[in-house]
Amino acid sequence: MKREQWKSQLGFLLAAVGSAIGLGNIWRFSYMAYSYGGGAFLIPYVTALLTAGIPLLILEFAIGHERVGSAPLAYAKISKKWEWLGWWAVIFVMFGIELYYTVIIAWCMDFFVLSFNLGWGEDPNSYFFKDFLALSDKPSAIGQIRTPIFAALVVVWFMNWMILYRGIQRGVELANKIFMPLLFVLTAVLVGWALTLEGAMEGIKAYLTPDFSKLSNPKVWIDAYSQIFFTLSLGFGIMIAYASYLPDKTNISRNAVLTAFINSGYSLFAGFAVFSVLGFMATSQGKPISEVVSQSIGLAFVAYPKAVTLMPGGNLFGAIFFLCLVVAGISSSVSIIEAFTSAVVDKFALNRKKVVTLICTLGFIGSIVFTTQAGLLWLDIVDHFLTHYGLVVVGIFECIIVAWLFKLKILRNHVNKISTLKLGPWWDFLIKYFVPLVLGVILIGDIYNELRQPYGGYSWLSIIIIGRDWVLLTLVAAFWMALRPWKTEHHKAPGRGDKTIV
Ligand code: ALA
Repeated sequence: MKREQWKSQLGFLLAAVGSAIGLGNIWRFSYMAYSYGGGAFLIPYVTALLTAGIPLLILEFAIGHERVGSAPLAYAKISKKWEWLGWWAVIFVMFGIELYYTVIIAWCMDFFVLSFNLGWGEDPNSYFFKDFLALSDKPSAIGQIRTPIFAALVVVWFMNWMILYRGIQRGVELANKIFMPLLFVLTAVLVGWALTLEGAMEGIKAYLTPDFSKLSNPKVWIDAYSQIFFTLSLGFGIMIAYASYLPDKTNISRNAVLTAFINSGYSLFAGFAVFSVLGFMATSQGKPISEVVSQSIGLAFVAYPKAVTLMPGGNLFGAIFFLCLVVAGISSSVSIIEAFTSAVVDKFALNRKKVVTLICTLGFIGSIVFTTQAGLLWLDIVDHFLTHYGLVVVGIFECIIVAWLFKLKILRNHVNKISTLKLGPWWDFLIKYFVPLVLGVILIGDIYNELRQPYGGYSWLSIIIIGRDWVLLTLVAAFWMALRPWKTEHHKAPGRGDKTIV
């Protein structure tokens, strides 16, 4: 069967941007900038973008496009020995990251509904942790499934399923063609509105005033690289699969640069809304910014609801904010499922629609554990282990396999033949030495911290069972998948660049 293709280059670009822009752009980037030196943080951030983000994104696009396959197929076409790496990426992302990612989208959906009548009441902190999550005190105290979260989760998985069931052009591409412009407009409304609030400028000042002294802390640099990695969906197997649906003639490097800049530009822009609102809240409560600021879950589900309560017309503002999170989240969530779906279809020649239905059903069942009273604790542990050990290790292997054990030149020539932005030896240097070195440093630092004390103050038992074993189980599943015989001949086909290599 002929491989599906994007209808247009724009469709592909929007899908790649849709995957990149996710929850992290809205709630993580601005906090990082604030706490890591404001405007000065742009130095490590842009350095990470240029020296690792864009080169790796070009690499992933090139692997998918030149080898013409989802991650496992593309690696199998490099060498049968490496097929497991592709499976590992798509398995731990699908049956790990995706499971709690969809639950966070479900929370956002619930909060979208709550916004209309400010349903979180006077004390959003107590509402979120006690009433909404009914959070238990340890991971083993699973408690009960939270009905409103479960109900929203059904909707999230239904949306994922519906989009993916319709295929690449009529599903993923069309959804992103609607979602991305919608997201940009909604975000612009939020930013415009937020800037008019009293105290907004105080917030913006806190967000952007440069403090260069922070840059001497290595953690700032390490976190900048980690953030770039996650935000560009690198190591997920997504960008490989998405690029495999491109036609022969495609401007690979330009698409990578555009995806990266739109994604980072969006983060920076959304930060204006986040910090204007925090500035407003600080002013109206007569507190310093440092007391109202928070990140991720605390920002979205506690600080923002609080601010919205204080704001005239806040319920609409809150609704738009949570809608942005839902839209940004769904487009990333769909890309994760697509990476796994295309891997299964490539290897086993199964009917795509059936595969999508099966995977969404299994994914839904798997994500239920995160809707329980211990959900947030599980989410925290699984997220820590999969993003720190899964993604980073895949990134290191990816560079080593392609640059040291395969001919990086095949990919470079291929990209240069069809792209306007030409890759020079600098790209080889980054992929061969620099990126694996940076990721290696991050990995060693993480392992060191891990062994010093159990992550997040959880018991060692929870860390081992929920964290370490989750990673190991997905690795075993990956080897198992790689050992299954191929039901298609795709892995025997040459790459697009094979004929042209000197
Ligand atoms: N790139 C996606 C995000 O930032 C996964 O949330």
